[in-house]
Amino acid sequence: MNKFVLVTGGAGYIGSHTVIALQQQGYTPVIADDFRNANQIVLEGLRSILGNEPLLHRIDICEDQALTRLFDQYQFEGVIHFAAYKAVGESVEKPLDYYQNNLVGLINVLRHLSTHHVKNFVFSSSCTVYGEPKGEKEVSETTPKQLPESPYGYTKWMGEQIIADFHRSTPQHKLMNLRYFNPVGAHPSARIGEFPIGKPNNLLPFVTQTAIGKYPHLTIFGADYPTRDGSCIRDYIHVQDLAEAHVAALNFLINQEDGLLEAVNIGTGRGTSVLEIVAAFERVTGHSLPYIIGPRRQGDVIEIYANATKGEQLLGWKSRLNIEDALKDAWAWEQYLATL
Ligand code: UFG
Repeated sequence: MNKFVLVTGGAGYIGSHTVIALQQQGYTPVIADDFRNANQIVLEGLRSILGNEPLLHRIDICEDQALTRLFDQYQFEGVIHFAAYKAVGESVEKPLDYYQNNLVGLINVLRHLSTHHVKNFVFSSSCTVYGEPKGEKEVSETTPKQLPESPYGYTKWMGEQIIADFHRSTPQHKLMNLRYFNPVGAHPSARIGEFPIGKPNNLLPFVTQTAIGKYPHLTIFGADYPTRDGSCIRDYIHVQDLAEAHVAALNFLINQEDGLLEAVNIGTGRGTSVLEIVAAFERVTGHSLPYIIGPRRQGDVIEIYANATKGEQLLGWKSRLNIEDALKDAWAWEQYLATL
């Protein structure tokens, strides 16, 4: 019997890798994606890696009727909810779009869990809920949350709050917030990966697009921070590890008898600076990466990385891949894109 799992945003960067991990572990992923922020190339990649046509519904999850039809059609074992806007800067310019899409979509999905008796739910949250860590740079799930800097951050912060209130009102559900650190890398086949629309905001796509020649140089946003080399420090997690974390989370939820709500950090537990990324990229790929030091970017956290022990203890999951693997895979994906 098929174990259907709804993956909203399943044609996106993290969603597509999770679709593969789900199928590899015996689930039947059902993608709901309207492709507003996804690309057909990823769909072709999914086909070639999966070896079959993925179950895909081109719907906007903010549309109640479309979601009702989907929940009527399948009896889902669980839902993994990725579909959301994710660009911090854009969210400052278009806050209403972010609140509309990210919060209405989440509320709509939660309503359908209730009406269709689907118990297991995994939410794409973010380490952005911790803000700039005060004192200790390694944050655990018990580190107090702080108010975010951007409307995007608020949608994750409020998303967790909505889920907490939903849990109080319907405690039979099994709910998990996965707080991602910085997802990077691509599938080792180089057939799916991150596909930023327009100029990338995030570091890794900018690095690979610079190396391939789309930009003359990378700008490092500040090298005068109080860190070991002056540049900001993040916990970069390979998207393959991140995808597996979702399957581990779902397996865990399915095996629980009682309703619950948990938050789990998904990171490596290691911090890497922007300058270290540049050096590692050059070392791993043999390509030189021109860069300049620019001014600080407003709103940047200086240093943060995960305490990743809860994921290991609760889910039996930990990261297997390192930043070198991620850079190698991201570069192979960029090179593949250049052949299209
Ligand atoms: N950076 C550069 N140059 C660039 C792009 C980024 O130096 O061209 C630096 C940033 O200043 C930062 C680091 O690279 O120090 C990582 O930046 P990203 O934009 O890749 O990632 P962020 O850590 O800023 O953002 C990520 C997610 C957000 C999330 C946030 C929470 O992309 O969704 O973490 O901290 F909200």
